[in-house]
Amino acid sequence: MPESNDHSMTRRNFLATSGTALAAAASPFATGIAGAQSKKLKVATVGTGSRGTLTWGIPVVKGYSDVVEFVGLCDINSKRVKVAQGMMGISAPTFTDFDEMVKKTRPDAVIITTVDGTHWRYIVRALELGCDAISEKPMCTNEEQCQAILDAAKRTGRKVTVTFNARHGREDKRVKQLLMEKAVGDVVSVDFHEYLDTSHGADYFRRWHYLKENSGTLLVHKASHHFDQANWWLNSTPTEVSAYGELKVYGRNGTFRSTHCRVCPFKQQCKFYWDITKSERMKEMYTDCESEDGYLRDACLFRENCNIYDTMSVRVKYENDVMLTYTANTYQPFEGQAIAFNGTKGRLDANHFGGGGYSQGEVRLTRAFGKSEVIRDFEERREGGHGGSDTSIQDLVFRGKPDPDPLGLRADLRAGAFGSLIGIAAYHSIERGGETVKISDLVKL
Ligand SMILES: NC(=O)c1ccc[n+]([C@@H]2O[C@H](COP(=O)([O-])OP(=O)(O)OC[C@H]3O[C@@H](n4cnc5c(N)ncnc54)[C@H](O)[C@@H]3O)[C@@H](O)[C@H]2O)c1
Repeated sequence: MPESNDHSMTRRNFLATSGTALAAAASPFATGIAGAQSKKLKVATVGTGSRGTLTWGIPVVKGYSDVVEFVGLCDINSKRVKVAQGMMGISAPTFTDFDEMVKKTRPDAVIITTVDGTHWRYIVRALELGCDAISEKPMCTNEEQCQAILDAAKRTGRKVTVTFNARHGREDKRVKQLLMEKAVGDVVSVDFHEYLDTSHGADYFRRWHYLKENSGTLLVHKASHHFDQANWWLNSTPTEVSAYGELKVYGRNGTFRSTHCRVCPFKQQCKFYWDITKSERMKEMYTDCESEDGYLRDACLFRENCNIYDTMSVRVKYENDVMLTYTANTYQPFEGQAIAFNGTKGRLDANHFGGGGYSQGEVRLTRAFGKSEVIRDFEERREGGHGGSDTSIQDLVFRGKPDPDPLGLRADLRAGAFGSLIGIAAYHSIERGGETVKISDLVKL
């Protein structure tokens, strides 16, 4: 089984284009390699909100300053970008204009942590200005954006990395290993169910995600994690998608609404009422910055113009004939995932549930006509966000570790494209009454 998710890339040229071989070329994959170079990777960030500051900011300053130097920070919100600078404790200059930042600070790579629908603009521009791009997922939210990125990468020869940290969970890595070892034979179908609760799930409807033009719906914003995992686990390429989606609880379904929680006359009766002012960090990062862009972090999740789905069901066909059934639901009493790989020689289950007084989780391998065993030999849990997966991906991006990378953890341009394209195809299918959408009709790869 190829070790990279990129089928066009052999093991040999993967090594040649990553890690040691490019140590002098100021690429994010070259920089950290075993202290072999004296130059630090110069990075600039665009989008200094929560993810840009709390994941790709503070922990990088703390844990990677030997190999990374922030040279600039940019955000459309001039106050928030200053807040980020303070929280990160750096003196790198702040900007509200991306081109100006790149031209003045000459970074080697740009970290893109803006609203999803704007990633493509900064990826394309970073590449055109001679930088590599390290983009948060999803890489893009529609097929035109995807094509623009693919074309820009081809034109410039620069590198795009998409930070799919969900590949980096220790259970997720173990699942990949078991599938590579063909523990269940050939996978024939996958059942993937995502459950978000009335806190985490609801939050997407308060935030910018509630509009498709910002997030590409949760089929792109959220499910790009899961579709990327599926593509990576199955080591195959999605070809056809059909889907249904509904908005049943949030948005126009509310019986009362306001602009945002702080001024809401229904505070007493709304089960979703949230007092943002109780968090100093939220105040500093969002409410104190409202004067600049009017963005309300505690906006009403019953806004009538919400145009994304809270209930989703998707079918995906892969090049290797695997069938994936995916569902996502955003108003559950607890959080969780139930994933099953049904193979010719058995079944692999990866489940976890938590919250609402309920907690359960295991990875279980059941061989056909054989034993069922709970898998426990995971790598040690790392410190850091998302159960340590954020630290694992930072090691990969800034230190080129693990090297070699037998699980193919690195997500490149192609992985970024397919991670988004399934969700894009799914919302097109929903808009066309469940019609099958071919991925090859969306972009020219
Ligand atoms: N991989 C993960 O686990 C994970 C987790 C959370 C968020 N994310 C991703 O990180 C990104 C940021 O999400 P967040 O939760 O930090 O949101 P956020 O709202 O906290 O931050 C977004 C920032 O982008 C800025 N911004 C918006 N439009 C911009 C533009 N056109 N130009 C420059 N700046 C702009 C906003 O002012 C804000 O500061 C999103 O793409 C999201 O999908 C990934």
